[in-house]
Amino acid sequence: MENQQRSSAGAPPGPGPGLGGAATMRAVVQHHYGPPSVLESSEVGMPLPGRGDVLVQVGAASVHPGDYFVMTGEPFMVRLVYGLRRPRHRIRGMDLAGVVAAVGKGVTSLRPGDEVFGWSSAGAFAEYACVPADNLVSVPGNLSVVEAATVPTSAMTALQALREVAKVRPGQTVLVTGASGGVGSFAVQIAKAFGAEVTGVCSTSNVDLVRSLGATHVIDYTRTDFTHNEKRYDVILDNVEAQPLAAVRQVLTPTGTLVPNSGRGGRWFGPLGRIVKARVLSSFTRQQLKPFTSIGKRQDLLTLTDLLRTGQVKPVIDRTYRLDEAADALRYVGAGHTRGKVVMTVR
Ligand SMILES: NC(=O)c1ccc[n+]([C@@H]2O[C@H](COP(=O)([O-])OP(=O)(O)OC[C@H]3O[C@@H](n4cnc5c(N)ncnc54)[C@H](OP(=O)(O)O)[C@@H]3O)[C@@H](O)[C@H]2O)c1
Repeated sequence: MENQQRSSAGAPPGPGPGLGGAATMRAVVQHHYGPPSVLESSEVGMPLPGRGDVLVQVGAASVHPGDYFVMTGEPFMVRLVYGLRRPRHRIRGMDLAGVVAAVGKGVTSLRPGDEVFGWSSAGAFAEYACVPADNLVSVPGNLSVVEAATVPTSAMTALQALREVAKVRPGQTVLVTGASGGVGSFAVQIAKAFGAEVTGVCSTSNVDLVRSLGATHVIDYTRTDFTHNEKRYDVILDNVEAQPLAAVRQVLTPTGTLVPNSGRGGRWFGPLGRIVKARVLSSFTRQQLKPFTSIGKRQDLLTLTDLLRTGQVKPVIDRTYRLDEAADALRYVGAGHTRGKVVMTVR
């Protein structure tokens, strides 16, 4: 996910946030790219909130595939953004929920003690994190801090894919692959809330879960290939891209929209080849093939807050890990079979 604003956690090369102040905190730090074993639980300096920033005492931080890609530095393409030889920001973690501990100059919307959730470009796997105030909103009363931490990147991705990219309308047929995953579990519920008829694709053990999230039809990918289906869909949100584009297009209506959304792919360029192919092909067909990159937007988080408050969307939590179990959490998420979201509890 791209950030609209750069937080102090997203700023300059060098030791990075949380590695310099006088007071200290516990954080999950990495000095090199590599497998989960590169993560260390260390005492580091507390970050200081700059102008427009908020210091959040982190209660919980969720983990998603993007954290895994940045940790490993693969696809290598991510190093162009996160640091060529080693990660510029040493503390991983983007999505968090917690309590405002202090506010920087110019912040009037939040006060110490407020319970908030939101996103940053780095630094969430720590006891404290500095986040731009504009990236944070209040935790709805019916959600725990652990539940709130699951929302930002995954739910905003699902919302933007369905509302802005595919422009889902009531009555449309929407198919979601990876329906049991972090993005998929939110996408099924959001598409349902938009009045669509939802089909979810998942494995046998997740069929009941995906149905409970609001899918009218569920396809078990271990038994049935959805691209061999007779049915045609107005919108396909493909979070897995296990089938070739040509096969997926077969089950899209003649003017339907396909959103290829998997970040996984080759070691160098990740999904880039598939993205280029989809864009090129899109000019030769009436079908819309629209890969996209989600963007952190406060207004979208507020929209999601409404859906959460009314119970139309509920986070699904797979597992929680303690901060000192970060390597296990990243290993699990990296394997690509999470059921909802994985969360690190910080206190
Ligand atoms: N466009 C963007 O800006 C953006 C933003 C965020 C994420 N993403 C991408 O979105 C993708 C999904 O993210 P996520 O957080 O949902 O991942 P995730 O939590 O790892 O979920 C993956 C899910 O896919 C399921 N799955 C695996 N193989 C499948 C198959 N052949 N058919 C159907 N389901 C299958 C898994 O269930 P089983 O255990 O049952 O296999 C699991 O529940 C990632 O590749 C991520 O990089 C893109």
